[in-house]
Amino acid sequence: MKARILVIDDEAEVRRSVGMILRYDDYEVLEASSGPEGIALAEKEAPDLVFLDIKMPGMDGLEVLQRLRNANENLPVVIISGHGTVSTAVEATKAGAFDFIEKPPSSEKLLVSIRNALERTRLSDENRSLRRAAEVRHQMVGESPSLRQVWDAIKRAAPTNATVLLQGESGVGKELVARSIHRNSLRSRERFIQVNCAAIPEELIESELFGHEKGSFTGATEKQIGKFEQADRGTIFLDEVGDMSAKTQAKVLRVLQEGEVERLGSARTIKVDVRVIAATNKDLEQEIEKGTFREDLYFRLSVIPIRVPPLRDRRDDIPLLVRHFADLFSRDNNRRLPRFTPAALEYLQKARWKGNVRELKNTVERLIIMTPGDTLDVDDLRDIVRLEPKAPVTPDGDKERPGTLREFKESAERAFLVGKLRENAWNISKTAEVIGTPRSNLYKKLEQYGISQEGDG
Ligand SMILES: Nc1ncnc2c1ncn2[C@@H]1O[C@H](COP(=O)(O)OP(=O)(O)OP(=O)(O)O)[C@@H](O)[C@H]1O
Ligand SMILES: [Mg+2]
Repeated sequence: MKARILVIDDEAEVRRSVGMILRYDDYEVLEASSGPEGIALAEKEAPDLVFLDIKMPGMDGLEVLQRLRNANENLPVVIISGHGTVSTAVEATKAGAFDFIEKPPSSEKLLVSIRNALERTRLSDENRSLRRAAEVRHQMVGESPSLRQVWDAIKRAAPTNATVLLQGESGVGKELVARSIHRNSLRSRERFIQVNCAAIPEELIESELFGHEKGSFTGATEKQIGKFEQADRGTIFLDEVGDMSAKTQAKVLRVLQEGEVERLGSARTIKVDVRVIAATNKDLEQEIEKGTFREDLYFRLSVIPIRVPPLRDRRDDIPLLVRHFADLFSRDNNRRLPRFTPAALEYLQKARWKGNVRELKNTVERLIIMTPGDTLDVDDLRDIVRLEPKAPVTPDGDKERPGTLREFKESAERAFLVGKLRENAWNISKTAEVIGTPRSNLYKKLEQYGISQEGDG
């Protein structure tokens, strides 16, 4: 596509010569002879770049620049300045102009400046869409009351420097919570460094966390900067913190207390300003009792404790999550977003999700890839998603559980019959047919168990 360039200059001769050069190079050119006219044109025609004269009667270039940038700060503006206005042009670049060119502008300078400016907008567009894509990937979806509590905790924790301890089963979203605390903190522009304490071999974790000097141990052929140093001024996320050895725990405790680290093989201590967020799917209090986790470290870490609830305790969020992941994976796989039928969503809401949101996410990915149609219904799910095993059937939920085999069989039979009758709108003939028993037998059972429709409330 041809780039569209707007030239704002009160001198017709400049507009003509600049316009000629640009058109010759196949750009589309718009011309304005005053500031206000240029601003109106910029708004209407959305040019990719503006050439702006600095000295014009009426509204001068600097003010035009201000207004253009207020309207769209990504629009590159190149100043064209006459002799004697070069210092103003310098001022203009400080005020956000992309570049300046002296009059009379040579075609070479004009074209180089255009290429640079357009390249920069292309890059920043790319950055923006990459950033947006990353944000969608790290978005936390859900509106259930229990997730809202997590949100509230994030909001309270984020602006502080307090250490946060995230606890919850595997796959509930602890990492996501850690990232959103960082994103909403005063450190959001600094680094978020993640360390998975369970994935690093015991003998390497210290040098990973604290760094080492060259030659400090066999194999240390290069100096290494530790994660705590890398995270300086930012946030460190100590994932699976429950898996740290006693020795590492002692060292981490020291960083938290003193705010300084020591590289292996160095006697020098280095001050670090790091916010710590830790996560674990272990029950740390139990680990303390077993003697595998230090109590003092636990207290240091859990200044702000946040529990992320398992998915089965917030089933309301499932339809939202399904749509979110379906959207994500259809884009990734270049296919149209399929529709989940209400029955399919209800089915997904009933599943076990032992692996929590991670399992749900993987399942949706699989569904998107494996199921070709535009609609996803229960039949597409049955083989992929297992349902929660049914609770033992008792006639009335809150009666005592049956004690003998006979009692169990009877209560199960009763519940079965009531269910089938309901399904068939209490039509006896139809129900008998569906369950494959003579009508007379069904009547007998109803009497035996005292089943009647009125009782079905
Ligand atoms: N509320 C949510 N909205 C959208 N995606 C989520 C949500 N919760 C979790 N996820 C996604 O589910 C996956 C698992 O989440 P995450 O890695 O944060 O879990 P975790 O609690 O750290 O698990 P583990 O203990 O196994 O490390 C990730 O891909 C994450 O993006
Ligand atoms: Mg995790």
